[in-house]
Amino acid sequence: MKVAIIGAGNMGGSIARGLVQGSLVKAIDITVANPTNTKLKALKVFNTEIQTTNNNQSAINNADIVIFAVKPWLMQEVICQLSLASDKQIIVSVAAGIPFSEYEQWIGPSTTIFRLIPNTAISQLQSMTLIASHNATKEQEQLILNLFNEMGVAMLIPEKQMAAATALTSCGIAYVLKYIQAAMQAGIEMGIYPKDAMKMVAQSVKGAAELILSNETHPSVEIDKVTTPGGITIKGINELEHAGFSSAIIRAIKASNS
Ligand SMILES: NC(=O)c1ccc[n+]([C@@H]2O[C@H](COP(=O)([O-])OP(=O)(O)OC[C@H]3O[C@@H](n4cnc5c(N)ncnc54)[C@H](OP(=O)(O)O)[C@@H]3O)[C@@H](O)[C@H]2O)c1
Repeated sequence: MKVAIIGAGNMGGSIARGLVQGSLVKAIDITVANPTNTKLKALKVFNTEIQTTNNNQSAINNADIVIFAVKPWLMQEVICQLSLASDKQIIVSVAAGIPFSEYEQWIGPSTTIFRLIPNTAISQLQSMTLIASHNATKEQEQLILNLFNEMGVAMLIPEKQMAAATALTSCGIAYVLKYIQAAMQAGIEMGIYPKDAMKMVAQSVKGAAELILSNETHPSVEIDKVTTPGGITIKGINELEHAGFSSAIIRAIKASNS
């Protein structure tokens, strides 16, 4: 299976590195195109077998899957300059906010297209990747899920949920980082060195996520386990609520849903 990636930036580069580390695509079968060379050279340093080019058309010529990872405002120009084998190739776009109806106008109504929204943790193979499909068979959907499940967790969702789910995952990662930053500030005020505080909080966040992902429990079940009546955790949790913590999170995520 040959994969072309158009755009070697944060997303395109991370996807290329992720695919190389996975088991489904060989490095030699990955071609990455970018107009300038610095990011392509970095990919070559990561794995010499990855193919690189400045020519988008030559990158896609023999590809089974073409992944577009350019900025949303460049997407139309980049796609329309190419001669895609749209009856054979699976098209994947990571651009936020472009509906299938627009791709249909650029590529044709019967092309198999996936919209894909990873988050920045894809560079650590820990992405929450959202996938919506258009004109795809069950096998094609499973293929794309398999590819991106090797870079974290991938989930197939209806296109109409894409914006809301992006607020939870792509924007959501920034909210979690904001929590880590705020908790670090508290730790520092209490005399803990910043580096130590960062590790303590980040590992606690990772542990909390593992608890609910591994056990599939509701967060309230896990919270209940640490809130002894009259204890210190419930005092802190109630302080959070008095300060409007849940409300602030809900409002922030709804604000990011656009
Ligand atoms: N970052 C995120 O968290 C995130 C999450 C989900 C989805 N996305 C989506 O991912 C896409 C890429 O975002 P990014 O953060 O990876 O941006 P980025 O780092 O700026 O990468 C975009 C790349 O596209 C290259 N490029 C520009 N014009 C091109 C052309 N004509 N042909 C081929 N490549 C071209 C750029 O090359 P030069 O720099 O050399 O010009 C750059 O390397 C966007 O559509 C964004 O909506 C991003």
